[in-house]
Amino acid sequence: MTDKNIHQLAVITGGASGIGLSAVKRFLNEGYKVLILDANKDAGEEAVKNLKSDTCDVNFIHCDITNHTQIETIFQDLLADNQRAHVLVNCAGISPSLSPLHQYPVEEWHRTIDINLHGTFYACREFCKLAKVQKIDKGAIVNVASIMGVRASAAQAPYAASKHAVVGLTKSIAQDYATINIRANAIGPGVIDTPMNTELMKDDNIMQYMLQRIPMNRVATSDEVANLIYFLASSEASYITGSYFPVDGGYLAS
Ligand SMILES: NC(=O)c1ccc[n+]([C@@H]2O[C@H](COP(=O)([O-])OP(=O)(O)OC[C@H]3O[C@@H](n4cnc5c(N)ncnc54)[C@H](O)[C@@H]3O)[C@@H](O)[C@H]2O)c1
Repeated sequence: MTDKNIHQLAVITGGASGIGLSAVKRFLNEGYKVLILDANKDAGEEAVKNLKSDTCDVNFIHCDITNHTQIETIFQDLLADNQRAHVLVNCAGISPSLSPLHQYPVEEWHRTIDINLHGTFYACREFCKLAKVQKIDKGAIVNVASIMGVRASAAQAPYAASKHAVVGLTKSIAQDYATINIRANAIGPGVIDTPMNTELMKDDNIMQYMLQRIPMNRVATSDEVANLIYFLASSEASYITGSYFPVDGGYLAS
């Protein structure tokens, strides 16, 4: 653990599972206080039960990232408690069903854009608002997009649209807040072994098809993604903003 991060707060949406949970553990190990925002009450409470200790300050708020009022209230409460958030990691997201566009259920399109894009926007908006009011002199946002943030696959229009938009949102945030030293970067995980992919990874045919397209010929662990998230949030990345970084075993390069 590094002493320099003690008392800095990292807010991690989707921190109850998968990539978000790995990020939570990494930030705790680096001495951050962590606030998990997640819609999964049981998983969030379980994470806090497992991780909280004398040296690990982690809390959970059960919320829906698509509810702007809830997210705004959470950040207003941080302000009222004089808690200074230096890092925001947006991991809350869904991978919707696959279908060609003309058959795509309209409700599922809206739900995907709502969670993956609007939820990310709400959290970024409230984080930046708090940073301005509190005059934070350095901060970092890491938005978890996807390889589908810069490339598309058949039958995945809403996911690709939401993740392309997250990359654009992130680049815009980087412009808006560069002069006050709040950096914003997006990352593009490839195929990661998380609960989101549990069903997919049981299907040998699909896995064989996907692995053929990944030069490293394997999926990644969520910890490998958390390594990149932590690096981008840390002072090691002090001159990096407005960028997109794949963590995909070479997929986008091939
Ligand atoms: N797993 C992969 O292969 C992969 C690849 C590329 C990108 N991603 C992205 O990484 C992020 C994390 O995915 P993961 O694989 O860890 O999945 P996961 O399902 O393990 O975790 C996602 C978390 O988001 C939370 N969440 C979902 N909807 C929410 C809402 N409305 N409000 C608050 N929380 C909500 C869930 O409860 C869950 O804890 C997602 O944005 C996903 O699109 C994942």
